Amino acid sequence: MQQVTDYLNKNKDRFINELIELLKIPSVSADPAFSQDVLNTAEAVKTALLEAGCDTVEICETKGYPIVYGEKIIDPSLPTVLVYGHYDVQPADPIDLWDSPPFEPVIKNTEIHPEGAIFARGACDDKGQMYMHVKAFELMIKTNQLPCNVKFMIEGEEEVGSENLGEFVANNREKLANDIILISDTGMIAKDVPSITTGLRGLSYVEVEVTGPNRDLHSGLYGGAVANPINVLTKMIASLHDENNHITIPGFYDKVEELSQEERAAMAKAPFNLENYKKALDINDVYGEKGYTTNERNSIRPTLDVNGIWGGYIGAGAKTVIASKAYAKISMRLVPHQEWEEITQLFKTHFESIAPAGVTVVVKPHHGGQGYVTPIDNNGYKAAEKAYQTTFGKTPIPQRSGGSIPIVALFEKELQSKTILMGFGLDSDAIHSPNEHFGVWNYLKGIETIPYFYQHFTELSK
Ligand code: BES
Ligand code: MN
Ligand code: MN
Repeated sequence: MQQVTDYLNKNKDRFINELIELLKIPSVSADPAFSQDVLNTAEAVKTALLEAGCDTVEICETKGYPIVYGEKIIDPSLPTVLVYGHYDVQPADPIDLWDSPPFEPVIKNTEIHPEGAIFARGACDDKGQMYMHVKAFELMIKTNQLPCNVKFMIEGEEEVGSENLGEFVANNREKLANDIILISDTGMIAKDVPSITTGLRGLSYVEVEVTGPNRDLHSGLYGGAVANPINVLTKMIASLHDENNHITIPGFYDKVEELSQEERAAMAKAPFNLENYKKALDINDVYGEKGYTTNERNSIRPTLDVNGIWGGYIGAGAKTVIASKAYAKISMRLVPHQEWEEITQLFKTHFESIAPAGVTVVVKPHHGGQGYVTPIDNNGYKAAEKAYQTTFGKTPIPQRSGGSIPIVALFEKELQSKTILMGFGLDSDAIHSPNEHFGVWNYLKGIETIPYFYQHFTELSK
């Protein structure tokens, strides 16, 4: 595999520059103002896949943004790897908190990335990580080392819930048939601590609306005599956690998988420094469910968080008013074996039931998805483990993540295949935040490691 290293060294500047070009297109799926840019990004991904060596690449239309599908079938009797990624990105807001414009990528050194990091929306999540696969594929093609078949499915609606991908997968089972699914859309513990993500949390996302009087009222004339929707909403939200930070929705924990003491002890072995964690976030203490460590709270335990809350007057100065309405957006991160639709229903029933007289409450379910846990005794995991051993000189640590990629559970259901999550991002890369970045070292390490996965997976499948 010396050729891998040689080819990478010769082409790394171009690999970086191509990613920078891709990052210049603002493919924000949540905001219709960027719809043409999202479509242009799909075209750019198609071109990249063709240039890298796919035999065919199609732009598959959906009710929303298209899915880019490409493949290279060298021999139907060999194993097939299906690579999934997304070309859409989160909105860049709040823009003023960026040190450089989100869609004008720049390379800057940071303490963690002395080799430089590319700063742009989508640098890590997921254009950078997705593009590692395109370049690793190019590298295998150009050095004549592709050992098996490859299919790429790169979607444009991950950040808005992948609402049309399920139908596409269900309607294209044959086309997408594979032996393993490979995704880089997660992270690793640290640059010198490689890890493989073995779990993702599920999600239930809802919006709530509390209505009091039929119009905004003078807070002196009416104050004290009618329900104030903002007071009521905040009180209702506060009641969703008890003094131990346990969620109070009846039935919420019924299906939560409780890990054995052995499993928890194994988790606790992963390197974690609480002081550094607090320092990185500028907090004087952590906060969460009683009886669980920080790493457990953000991976094997479910959560309920307000993501946004609004209502009333927030302009300059003061306005004495009781607003007619108050709103909040709430996410619940779920763990195996909670069913997201059931949790949404439990939330709705409970939230409506705790509304006091004097207001009406509407709960609007948004999207959601199931969590996922991948076994570590299969060829996919073993191949990934060997790949990291080769390029990092260390055995990767299996680690459950707190984030969600809802489509992974659906892949298992529709395609009966396991997913291997080889993430190369770091928690400090600020995905979804201002100043998102992706280390150049991480990007190149990913490109270097992926071909070894293909090699080992093919060998183990024999
Ligand atoms: N790539 C992330 C998910 C992720 C990041 C998982 C880091 C593990 C580690 C993905 O793009 C994402 O942001 N997913 C959303 C869910 C979706 C339904 C909007 C999320 O987790 O909020
Ligand atoms: Mn992502
Ligand atoms: Mn994301």
